[in-house]
Amino acid sequence: MKRMLSGIKPSGELTLGNYLGALKRFVAFQEDYEMFVFIANLHCITVYQEPAQLKTYLRNAVALYLACGLDPQRSTIFLQTDVPEHAQLGFILSCNSYLGELNRMTQYKDKVQQGEGALTVGFYTYPTLMAADILMYDPEYVPVGDDQKQHVELTRDIAERFNNRYSPTFNIPEPLIAKTGARIMSLSEPTKKMSKSDHSDKGVIYMLDEPNIIRKKVRSATTDSLGIIQFDPINQPGISNLIQIIATCKDSSIEDVVEQYKHLQYGAFKDEAANIIIDTLSPIQARYKEIVHSDLIEQTLLEGKEKAHRIARKKLEKVQRKIGLEIKKK
Ligand code: AMP
Ligand code: TRP
Repeated sequence: MKRMLSGIKPSGELTLGNYLGALKRFVAFQEDYEMFVFIANLHCITVYQEPAQLKTYLRNAVALYLACGLDPQRSTIFLQTDVPEHAQLGFILSCNSYLGELNRMTQYKDKVQQGEGALTVGFYTYPTLMAADILMYDPEYVPVGDDQKQHVELTRDIAERFNNRYSPTFNIPEPLIAKTGARIMSLSEPTKKMSKSDHSDKGVIYMLDEPNIIRKKVRSATTDSLGIIQFDPINQPGISNLIQIIATCKDSSIEDVVEQYKHLQYGAFKDEAANIIIDTLSPIQARYKEIVHSDLIEQTLLEGKEKAHRIARKKLEKVQRKIGLEIKKK
């Protein structure tokens, strides 16, 4: 079985974007791949997090992984800091990456452009930690949303550089971007990604939002004055986003969704969209409620840690030996 790895950074409550762009796919992939899915808690603190709040986000995220159907019997589910080798390999890889490469990362450039004054060094170097998260386990594929493609490409460059400089050590992974659902947009500003770090949550549907909240948010989604239901992300980003959300929730094609709903007025179309989102999230929310206070979370993370740690320890030893960091005789 080929291996796949991905992670989510729960620096807030997980969103419909996280579900459609990441979690839903992970669940499907575990049928055919050996999945490693982790909680990127170190990545969360690249921006200050209130400690008690962060802890809740992390626990909720594991509960949601399980509620979505990730199966700890089949997939390895773990917490990044339970495997301290990630941070160590991250440093080593940062010594095999260049400032020029990190300066080109869109996420970083956007923050600078927005005039973000208090960017941390950790935020700047986080793509090298992400490279470590990935390369540690030699996955074939890394399923991610659109926004993370560049980081997986950087990971490939770092791996190739390391392999050439020392000797073949890391598998070169490929990013796996979905055809639909790779970029779910904000409902209120549909030219921007739906993101848990949005300042206003009007445009963000959280996986744990109650049905009435979902209805309200979808009803007030930004649309346009054309009054036609068609997929045209440039001229009709709001309607196209709702089409994409429906298509991804129902595993349908964009064309089929347009065909099915094109006769509707925007108001009725929004009601349909809200119902579909509610039907998608309700069963997950019900399972979440059973799981979040149970021991299943600790048990899952303990098993995941054992498996991931065994692999990571060996990999880091190998890397350190190749670099010449060890003193003992062979
Ligand atoms: P993050 O929440 O930034 O850690 O992202 C975790 C995963 O969810 C990554 O694979 C992201 O690419 C994906 N993701 C986050 N937001 C969205 C979105 N709005 N649309 C699609 N995928 C997303
Ligand atoms: N950086 C990713 C994000 O913000 C989360 C992440 C961290 C990740 N390490 C990873 C995703 C390794 C895939 C593989 O979305």
